[in-house]
Amino acid sequence: MAEKAKPARLGIPEIRARKGATPLVCLTAYTASIAALLDPHCDLLLVGDSLGMVLYGEDSTLGVTLEMMIGHGRAVVRATRHACVIVDLPFGSYQESPEQAFRNASRVMIETAASGIKLEGGAVMAPTIRFLVERGIPVCGHIGLMPQAVNTSGGFRVVGRSQDAARQVLADAEAVAAAGAFAVVIEGTAEPVARQATEAVPVPTIGIGASPACDGQILVSDDLLGLFGGFKPRFVRRYAELQTEISRAVAAYAEDVRDRRFPAPEHCFGLPGKS
Ligand code: KIV
Repeated sequence: MAEKAKPARLGIPEIRARKGATPLVCLTAYTASIAALLDPHCDLLLVGDSLGMVLYGEDSTLGVTLEMMIGHGRAVVRATRHACVIVDLPFGSYQESPEQAFRNASRVMIETAASGIKLEGGAVMAPTIRFLVERGIPVCGHIGLMPQAVNTSGGFRVVGRSQDAARQVLADAEAVAAAGAFAVVIEGTAEPVARQATEAVPVPTIGIGASPACDGQILVSDDLLGLFGGFKPRFVRRYAELQTEISRAVAAYAEDVRDRRFPAPEHCFGLPGKS
């Protein structure tokens, strides 16, 4: 029997070629079950270090370790066939030197089979990005609001609102692209500045709380699905209310167990020869 052709996974060159074309559909994914559901609809799945807050209930992304990223990255790659999967380098795993970044990024690539990594930082990280790209590791930049810098920036605040800050975002976008990043995430940035940065660089920009002019959009999937917390950031649009649905389902299960309606006969196993 002829083998069915395996649909090819989108690669880094295809993502890069989407500059100025149909917007890239991107979401975060952390687990195999959710990744499999997102995969057919997305161009790119990011195993983001936001998993520290979303899955592990932490207040920031700073406590996320390389081992956590590798475990979740491997699960997401295994569960998907279509989307390009990239994995965040967590805080402390790349800022020290290009060599440290290569050591940890190569572990991510080898142990997860992801197509690339993402790291936060603008012009200051450009030499590291160049070092990784020249050694075979595709890098997605991340500029604007950088959650790993929450302690130096003073909080999760929109950036680019003063002239100096806007200039910095533009300089960061250009430096990261010139260093060889295949795409740049622009997070939490004044809309006109994100728009200008998109016009300024030859690689796709992927916005979150940025601009509809970006070459792609990304959201934390738990935000879009209504799975995460009471607070909905302004830049999120909810497409489902799964917290409500899960509460309803679990309450119904609890009632059935207490009233002995579950398990029913069809959920039980008989003895051999009897149904
Ligand atoms: O960690 C993450 O989920 C991210 C996205 C918000 C872009 O970096």
